[in-house]
This record gives sequence, structure tokens and C-alpha cells, in this order.
Amino acid sequence: MTDPDYDAIILGAGAAGMMCAMTAGARGKRILLVDHADAPGKKILISGGGRCNFTNIHTAPDRYLSANPHFAKSALGRYTPQDFIALVERHGIAWHEKTLGQLFCDGSARQIVDMLASECAGAGVTIALGHPVADIAHADGRFRVTINGREHSAPALVLATGGPSIPKMGATGFAYDVARRFGLGIVQPRPALVPFTLGAEDALFTELSGVSAPVEVRWNKVRFREAALFTHRGLSGPAMLQISSYWQHRTPISVNFLPDTPPDWLLAEKRARPRTPLRRVLAEHLPDRLAQALLERIGTGGELGSSSDKALRAAHARLSDWPFTPSGTEGYAKAEVTAGGISTAALSSQSMMAKAVPGLYTIGEAVDVTGWLGGYNFQWAWASGHAAGTAL
Ligand code: FDA
Repeated sequence: MTDPDYDAIILGAGAAGMMCAMTAGARGKRILLVDHADAPGKKILISGGGRCNFTNIHTAPDRYLSANPHFAKSALGRYTPQDFIALVERHGIAWHEKTLGQLFCDGSARQIVDMLASECAGAGVTIALGHPVADIAHADGRFRVTINGREHSAPALVLATGGPSIPKMGATGFAYDVARRFGLGIVQPRPALVPFTLGAEDALFTELSGVSAPVEVRWNKVRFREAALFTHRGLSGPAMLQISSYWQHRTPISVNFLPDTPPDWLLAEKRARPRTPLRRVLAEHLPDRLAQALLERIGTGGELGSSSDKALRAAHARLSDWPFTPSGTEGYAKAEVTAGGISTAALSSQSMMAKAVPGLYTIGEAVDVTGWLGGYNFQWAWASGHAAGTAL
């Protein structure tokens, strides 16, 4: 049985797919939105600790990683955080800025999913949930998609099935498989915004599980100043998640545990209070257990007055540039997003349509555009979904 009445079939009822569906539906397009999960927007529900960090007011193209750093400019410029805030406010959803421009619901992430679902319903979008896509065919300018034994067809197909991070939630590399079939390139996908694991040589630090500290972390020329968290497997917390998106295997990251102190800080402290133990001075800036572990590693301690100026300078230098070489990451099971994905070289940055396959679009996390932690990834999902939704 065929159903030829849709203008577009959107695969994936996540953040990008729902935004695309409601935008195109509101323009009078007949849209079929498909997801193999039994409910839409499951990642939105667990996002931001259940409160959904739905955008970031500092959104700018340089806060996204992509083989083409210019690709995201057009979509981000045409659908901004202000546009999404206006939508949220039209739905009476209360929100607040937590830190660093990150906007969260006061209530629950469920409000964002309900908002998108009600926009889709108002725009007449048909939603088909709970069945895998059995087949996709393309001929005579139409895409034919078989779901639950029934074939649907449309002149446009949108891949919005995200990336493979958090497979236990139904995340797949489906978009990449379909993209490959249509000849689109894939930039090697990798887990991003993901905790690091540490090897045996850093076992001392895994004993600090649960301890967190404000740090500056650096990899090559990239720096983030946020909290780091020690875990029983390695390093997490916003600073580590951020740098993980840039990190390359077998390279060191550098952690500055004393980002607010000048190089001669310990010398000044020695002059001011020579009888104070070094550990106690450090513990004014760092959790005590961390201060102790770092000093054990350096092999120094005791009263400030008993250390030479040279030794204190060296200790400060080490604490300000502490190298960790992660043994790896916790992989897709713990990665908040997937970096890499469908190559932007194959896509129009205006419409998200594949240049060589008229009618085929791809949006959201499936595309090789990955944001920083803090609402940037949802803003890309909204912006790319909106770009395709206005072009379909
Ligand atoms: P998304 O993954 O949302 O949707 C893809 C949809 O496709 C899913 O509904 C899935 O079921 C469906 N699908 C997959 N394979 C399919 C198949 N074969 N057939 C049919 N359907 C299929 N970002 C942010 O900006 N702020 C935040 O607070 C957070 N917090 C956060 C927490 C956690 C724990 C995670 C894992 C991630 C975040 N993120 C985030 C990232 C954010 O969730 C992510 O960037 C967006 O959900 C991406 O939106 P998409 O619509 O592209 O994919």
C-alpha cells in the first residue's frame, strides 16, 4: 500500500527533526515525522540534568567544531537563541540563565518536548513512532520509505537521526549509512563531550573520585576554564568534557590547578607566613585531598619556609601546567554528542540539502557540526532544523 501524499518525510523525531517538521508544517507542507523510538525527543528529556539547557546566548560559529568552520554560520545566523527564547516564551515556559550564557527550563525538559510536539500537532505533522525504517528507495525524484510494512513516499527526505552517542537510548549511526548510500562523505565520527579515562600511572588520581576543582585545561591552543571532576575511571566535569571534543588520542592535556595565582605566588606566601604548611596554602585554592595528592606526586611539602625559592617556583610551575595523558575516553556510552559525521562539503549551508541529491537533507547531530557544552548543540539542532524546514 502506498501513501504518496507527503511533501517530506523526516527520519528522527529528536530536537532537529521536530524543529524541521514544525517549521515546514507551519508553511503548509505535509510532513511525516518518523522515529523508531516509542516517544519523540528522548534525548531532550534527559538533557541538562532533566532541565534541558536549550540554548546558549553566546552562540557563535567559533564555538562549533567542523571540518568546515564556516558551514554553520548561515543557519546559526538565521535562527538565533533569541528566536528559540521567543518560542519558549510564547509557550509560557519559565527559564533562567545558569552560568556562561546557558539557558535552562525552571521546570522540566518535558516542557520543551511538549512545546515541540504541540507545534508539530498545530502544523498538521503526522508522527509515526515505534517502528524501524525497513527500507529507503529513491527513484523518479521520490524517496520511498517503508515503515511497519507500509510504503510512504515524498519528493524530500530529511535525515535527522542524530549520531551514535548513548546507544542504550536508541542512538544509531543510521544517518551515516543512508548518507553513504547516497554518496555523501563522512568525517570520521568520534565520541565528544566525553569523560577521559586515566591509565595505571595516574591511579593515584582515580582515588580522588568525586573531588572537583576549578581549573584551566589546555590542549594545543584550545583552553577552557571550568570545573574538573575526578572520577573512579579518570577525569570529567565541564572543563574535561569541553577539551575532549578537541583531544586526539595519545596526546597530553595540560591542567592549570592554580589559574588565579601569579608565578611568584608561593614565594609571596612564604615571605608572609613561612610557618604555614604548603598543603594548607594550596588547600585555600583547591580541595584538600587534591592538594595532598598533587604534593605527593611532586614529592614536596612541609612548611613554606623550609622550601627553597627555587623549589616553590618549580612546584607552582608544575601545578600550573600539570600534564595528563588520558588512556582514552569513556566512548559513545558516555559521550554527550558525536563529533564528525556527514560531511558538510556535500551540503548546502543555506538549506542543508545534499548538493548532488536534490530533495535529500540532513540536519542536527548527524552532520559534521559539533558544539561546545552548554546549550550549543541544541541551538545547532534548532538552527539546522529550521534551515531545512524553511527550504523544503
Ligand atoms: P537526537 O539524538 O536528539 O534525535 C535523533 C532521533 O532519531 C532520536 O529520537 C532517535 O530515536 C531517532 N533515531 C535514531 N536512529 C533511528 C533509526 N534508525 N530510525 C528511526 N529513528 C531513529 N545538548 C544541549 O545543547 N544542551 C544540553 O543540556 C544537552 N544535554 C545532553 C545530555 C545528554 C545525557 C546527552 C546524551 C546529550 C545532551 N545534549 C545536550 C546533546 C543533545 O541532546 C544533542 O545534540 C541533540 O539531541 C541532537 O539533536 P538531533 O535531533 O540531531 O538528534
